[in-house]
Amino acid sequence: MLLEVTDLKKYFPVAKTFIERILTKEERYVRAVDGISFSIEEGEVFSLVGESGSGKTTTGKLVLRLIEPTSGRIVFQGTDITSMSKKEIRPMRRHMQIIYQDPYASLNPRMRVGEAIMDPLLIHRIAQGREAREMVLEMLEKVGLTPPETFFNSYPAYLSGGQRQRVAIARAMITRPKLVVADEPVSMIDVSLRASILDLMMDLRREFGSAYLFITHDLAVAKYISDRIAIMYLGKIVEVGRTRDLFRNPLHPYTKALLSAIPVPTPGRRRERIKLKGEIPSAIDIPTGCRFHTRCPLAFDLCSREEPELMEVEPGHFVACHLHK
Ligand SMILES: Nc1ncnc2c1ncn2[C@@H]1O[C@H](COP(=O)(O)OP(=O)(O)O)[C@@H](O)[C@H]1O
Ligand SMILES: [Mg+2]
Repeated sequence: MLLEVTDLKKYFPVAKTFIERILTKEERYVRAVDGISFSIEEGEVFSLVGESGSGKTTTGKLVLRLIEPTSGRIVFQGTDITSMSKKEIRPMRRHMQIIYQDPYASLNPRMRVGEAIMDPLLIHRIAQGREAREMVLEMLEKVGLTPPETFFNSYPAYLSGGQRQRVAIARAMITRPKLVVADEPVSMIDVSLRASILDLMMDLRREFGSAYLFITHDLAVAKYISDRIAIMYLGKIVEVGRTRDLFRNPLHPYTKALLSAIPVPTPGRRRERIKLKGEIPSAIDIPTGCRFHTRCPLAFDLCSREEPELMEVEPGHFVACHLHK
C-alpha cells in the first residue's frame, strides 16, 4: 500500500471575540476533518468528492504533511509520517507532490517557466546543469508546451491559465512522484480545455506510475478519471467504493443527490434531480447523529441520535447510513 490514513482528524481552533473570552473558557473548533480512514495503492487514482467546506483540501494538505494533524495516523510507503519533523520529511518530498487549483497563484511570477520546472530537480539533487535542462525541455514537450525552448524562457505572465496549469503539472511530475495530490486542478480552467488537461495528467501517471489523490467537487470529473471515489460530507467519508460500483449502485442519499445533478447525455432519458434542503452546516456546529440528517430527504428518528459507521455493503463498497445495515 502506498498511503494508509487511519482515523485522521484536523480541528482548527476558532478565534474568540473579546466578549467570548470573558464569558467562556470553552474552546471552539472547526472540525474540518473529523476521523477519516482510507488507503491508496501504487498508481491508483483515488478521488475525494464533496461540496465546498467538506474538508477535501484539508485532507490533501494533511496527507502531504503540509499541516499538522490533530490526531490519527498517516503511513506513506510503509513509513509512519504522522509526527515526523519537516527535516525528516524533506527527503521524501520528491515523492509527495501537489497541484493546486489556481494556476495564477501557484507559480512565482519572477521565475522563468524552465527554472520553475527545474527547481524540484535541483532541490532534490536529481539532476543539475545541462542534464537538468534537457529533462525540463523533454517535460515541456510532454505537457504540450512547444516549442519547448520558447516556453523554457517565458515568464508565467505571458501564459494562459491552461498553459500555466501545464507548467504546474510539469513541475509536480518532473520528480516522478509516487503520490500527487491534485486539488481541483481543472476547476479554474476553461471548460473547453478541461478534458485535455485531465488526459495529460492521466498519461503522465501511466508513464511514471504515480498515484493521484484527486480532489474535486464535481462527481462527473471524478467518474472520468478515478479508480475509486470517496464521498465526503462535513469532514467524514460517507461512501467509498470503486467508481463503477458507486455509479451502478449509489447507496448514500448524499451520493444520490450529487449523482442526480450530473446531466445525462442520452436524449430522452432523464434522471430525477434530488434537491437537498438548505446549505452545508457549519463545521463548528456539526449536527448530532448522522451529520447529514438535517438535509437528508430520507432521515428518520434514529438519524439525529446515532452516528452511522462505514459498513461494507458489497466487496470494497462502504457506506455510512442507517438505511444500509
Ligand atoms: N486554516 C483554517 N483555519 C480555520 N478553518 C479552516 C482552515 N482551513 C479550512 N478551514 C475550514 O475547514 C472546513 C473544511 O475546509 P476545506 O478543507 O477547505 O474544504 P473543501 O476543500 O472541501 O472546500 C471549512 O469549514 C473551512 O472553513
Ligand atoms: Mg478545497
